[in-house]
Amino acid sequence: MLETLTIDRIAESRRPGVDFNQLGFGNVFSDHMFSMVYTGGQWRQPEILPYGDIGLAPGVATLHYGQTVFEGLKAFRGADGTVRVFRPDKNIQRLRASCERLCIPMIDDEIFYEAIRLLIEIDHAWIPAKRGQALYIRPIIFGTESHLEVRPSATFRFLMMTSPVRTYYEDNMAAIALKVDERYARSAPGGTGSAKTAGNYAASLLPGDLARREGFDQVLWLDGAEHRYVEEVGQMNIFFRFRDEVITPELRGTILPGVTRDSVLVLLRDFGVPVAERRISIDEVMQAGRRSDLLESFGAGTAAVIAPVGRISFRGETLTVNENRMGELTRRLYEEITAIQTGEIADRHGWNMLVQISELVSAAS
Ligand code: COI
Repeated sequence: MLETLTIDRIAESRRPGVDFNQLGFGNVFSDHMFSMVYTGGQWRQPEILPYGDIGLAPGVATLHYGQTVFEGLKAFRGADGTVRVFRPDKNIQRLRASCERLCIPMIDDEIFYEAIRLLIEIDHAWIPAKRGQALYIRPIIFGTESHLEVRPSATFRFLMMTSPVRTYYEDNMAAIALKVDERYARSAPGGTGSAKTAGNYAASLLPGDLARREGFDQVLWLDGAEHRYVEEVGQMNIFFRFRDEVITPELRGTILPGVTRDSVLVLLRDFGVPVAERRISIDEVMQAGRRSDLLESFGAGTAAVIAPVGRISFRGETLTVNENRMGELTRRLYEEITAIQTGEIADRHGWNMLVQISELVSAAS
């Protein structure tokens, strides 16, 4: 299919106008994006084109009913100049599951990999080299049919765009404050909680906003059925270190199966730290905190990497975790993941996809 790929290169790169010392998260996009359309039951028309507006009819049902899925992954430029993309196979696996849940036709794995390679080649000048920064890759698939019936679209668009970013939180070492939310839920059994789809994020906006107005950084979500078991934190998976054991909520269909979550579990086992994936009630967390058994807690996600948790507030009671500072194990995990991503230490699990920058793209354009 990529035999029909067309490349429309931007006349003048916007890159010289971007200050990489002032990067935020996702507020600037690289020069190009990859696009494909799904019509007549198949994906077609692969293109690389300048990042820019896409014409959409106001009646496109996705704008009304949210038939859309996305992913987030990162590319890093190592000190040796090599570009590494972290665990794209896991994103493909999750994208496939999200597509199934949202009645969206999945693209071929090979197209996903090729789109990444092409964008990295053509926009390699946008890949930051500074520790903590990365080129964030955002694939998205959404229905494009204009109709108002509540049914799956017959046509779709796949876009992949990239954005040079810092970590989600400006100071990745600073501990965040969490508010346990008993009123709202991010997802419910049988819902779309394990899919990476817009509706889950839309549902989190009001509770997140209310928590921020009260001075918290994020919401600590409880399960939607009993409002008793911990699920996620903001847009990340949550971990607790109870004495020598690290616990994270098990995947029960309501939690996003995070790539960083999985990596943390593998690394903890490498370190010889006992880990468990199981249900954790908020009462258990609070009790462990009161007994001083809650030694560390952190959120894990592609955008934030590892974010230490310093305070947890529930029903007016606030636990302070590790004196509101990044814990020793949390720091070790952050250092280990980022060192693997940037090629500073051996990629012993074969997580990185290496991308060679060649003259292919310039030759084809
Ligand atoms: C990520 O960590 O990649 C995410 O998708 C979170 C994002 C919504 C900022």
